[in-house]
Amino acid sequence: MESTRSRLIKLLSQSKESYISGQALSEALGISRNAIWKHMKDLENDGYRIDAKRSQGYRIVSFPDKVSSNTIRWGLKTKWMGQHIIHKESVPSTQLIGHEIARENAPNGTIIIAEEQTAGKGRMKKNWFSDKEGLWTTLLLRPPIPPNKASELTLLAAVALREALHELTNLPIGIKWPNDLLIGDKKLCGILTEMQAEQDRIDYVLIGFGLNVNQNEASWDASIRDIATSLKMESGKSWDKKEIVQTILKHFENTYEMYLSEGFKTIKSTWEEHAFKIGENIKINTFHDAWTGQFLGITDEGALIVESQDGSPITLYSAEITWFDR
Ligand code: BTN
Repeated sequence: MESTRSRLIKLLSQSKESYISGQALSEALGISRNAIWKHMKDLENDGYRIDAKRSQGYRIVSFPDKVSSNTIRWGLKTKWMGQHIIHKESVPSTQLIGHEIARENAPNGTIIIAEEQTAGKGRMKKNWFSDKEGLWTTLLLRPPIPPNKASELTLLAAVALREALHELTNLPIGIKWPNDLLIGDKKLCGILTEMQAEQDRIDYVLIGFGLNVNQNEASWDASIRDIATSLKMESGKSWDKKEIVQTILKHFENTYEMYLSEGFKTIKSTWEEHAFKIGENIKINTFHDAWTGQFLGITDEGALIVESQDGSPITLYSAEITWFDR
């Protein structure tokens, strides 16, 4: 059940500019005016700036810097995406929490954010490094699309994330098929999409993304030091994780709504505009084979079109591509 403190913050956040009287708060929350006053003192001690006027009541002026569901909600400019927020200090994986809450009927657009993951999951069953400096997040969607279109959501996620991060940082972020965000040849963000579906309908999709935010070179384990980067390493400054989440949610909501009304076409062309290596030679690794061929583009469902070993075009739904000498 939601705590009184959290309900109090929600009420105050809803009326940012205007004051709410102690009496109105006490009636809404079913506690005494004295208890309201004590909550206000606690909030101030935790870094909230509260404006209290004897004749008018209380108003929150600003939130503390820390990431929490309340600080994210304050300043969030979405209609529905991310309006239900679960924030945890440490979890094995936000994807696991996602599956749990989806089965318990959590609403479309719920976001799970962890400060740290102890068993972060990457694609192809790889581990995902998840220290306290990054942003580890899962978004729960219940899209009204058939299961065979779910892969489009992964590409949609890459487009929305790239746009949000570009708006905030202006860094030259590109997309590597299918869904990694890179700066130069180093990985900034990885996306993992998981789905629960019946034959003809999706129950839910979890879009997990791991974004390296404030790590330094020394943060990385030797095994990933040469292949990973962070916003801080690229820009030379630290970033506010809650502002990043708010910006991502806004872009995600816009891009997803556009997808539902117009289909994948517009997303596909934005994806292609920012993808690395279209028209160039890349190395392709599939389960059975490895070869070099031209990256010809993607299909309307987001699958990879490359030159096959005999020179003819071939469509691949699952493969690893690279162009680095390492
Ligand atoms: C990849 O291999 O590139 C995908 C990495 C996805 C990592 C994110 S972090 C948040 C979410 N929770 C997880 O356990 N994995 C995803």
